[in-house]
Amino acid sequence: MLTDDIEVTQELTELEQIMRSRFANRFYLDREVDPEVITGILDSARYAGTGANVQPWRVYVTAGQAKATLTDALSRAHQTSSNEHSSEYRYLPDPLPEPFNSRRREFGSIFFGSLGIAHDDIAARAANTARNCRFFDAPIGLIFTIDRRLEKGSWLDLGMFIQNIMLAAKARGLDTCTQEFLSRYHAVIRANLPLAAEELVVCSMAVGFGDPDWEKRRPQMPKAPVEEFASFHGF
Ligand SMILES: Cc1cc2nc3c(=O)[nH]c(=O)nc-3n(C[C@H](O)[C@H](O)[C@H](O)COP(=O)(O)O)c2cc1C
Repeated sequence: MLTDDIEVTQELTELEQIMRSRFANRFYLDREVDPEVITGILDSARYAGTGANVQPWRVYVTAGQAKATLTDALSRAHQTSSNEHSSEYRYLPDPLPEPFNSRRREFGSIFFGSLGIAHDDIAARAANTARNCRFFDAPIGLIFTIDRRLEKGSWLDLGMFIQNIMLAAKARGLDTCTQEFLSRYHAVIRANLPLAAEELVVCSMAVGFGDPDWEKRRPQMPKAPVEEFASFHGF
């Protein structure tokens, strides 16, 4: 069996199959998700390891009218005053060093290419990016925050919690797309949800049943092979 360009010689566990089938889905069915399923996913995700067990995460789960009100406000802000909003943290440095910059460019050309959007079609790219504001029309939108007094270590913990959610969702037949994009609209989020002053908006996540047609057509984002990022010593 071949996955990417690595020959898999051992049988994959169920968990590994889920890890490999997860992808950032930006196309969802118009199908509701039972709130108990989301509670169940979070109930499992909270078992993520955290340094000194501080469990730094907070998550706001939005659906229905609350999500609609939030996404309308986000879309309005994006359309009318995007230059007045910026994230409270920096996700990537500018300039982005190699090999990361090449990977980012490759992502852009694969993703927009898969949608038939040309590299120089700025309007179509922007319209697609704006879909972030609507959680890509997924029925559930999650907002993740962290206490701003915490350090980088706790951000690691939050990442593990988020990964647990993505995998638990996939195991229950749901797709996800984590989004740093909405962190720039923290003021809009704050106006619509009861965030405490010390909470910093880290990212959001769309959750829902993925469109099966897109799943068949979607591109697999290239993943660097093990030998590119790991070295083994003492074997
Ligand atoms: C922390 C994080 C933030 C992300 N932010 C965004 C985002 O704002 N908008 C978006 O469309 N995708 C976002 N993504 C999805 C990535 O583009 C995607 O994970 C990456 O291209 C690899 O593709 P894959 O997840 O399908 O393997 C984010 C992913 C992560 C983990």
